[in-house]
Amino acid sequence: MNDMISADSIKSQGTSIKFVLNGDTVSLDNVDQNTLLIDYLHTNDIGLTGTKLVCGEAGCGACTVMQTKWDDVAQRLVDQPINSCIHPLVACDGMMITTTEGLGNTKTGLSPVQFKLAANNGSQCGFCSAGFVMNMHSLLQAKGDTLTEKEIEE
Ligand code: FES
Repeated sequence: MNDMISADSIKSQGTSIKFVLNGDTVSLDNVDQNTLLIDYLHTNDIGLTGTKLVCGEAGCGACTVMQTKWDDVAQRLVDQPINSCIHPLVACDGMMITTTEGLGNTKTGLSPVQFKLAANNGSQCGFCSAGFVMNMHSLLQAKGDTLTEKEIEE
């Protein structure tokens, strides 16, 4: 597990980016191109530690967050799950990023997926539950009422 670092420490020689994180606009200058999204989420200043780092190589899904971007071909916003452990922070420029904290919590209310997972004992130790939630939420956002059982299983 990586130690919490300061958001300022990830800035060095780099580029400027702007994106939306859980509904708030974020503008960053001099972002190091080697900084990963999960490292930014885990900085002391941001503190979105609900997204977990486990394998660090896009194999387990514990670090999943939802990326929303404009699709020029489809002419609409498209939601997709991404592995924040391999996703460069600079690649978030112009995107919307949603973490499990952006969906809901026990104080202000759980999202439907968070609620169903909890109510149906859908987790074991719970460490990867946020990744499951973000994957399921992204799938529901993308497919809506057309989602089939086969697509869920896949
Ligand atoms: Fe396992 Fe990212 S931490 S996929």
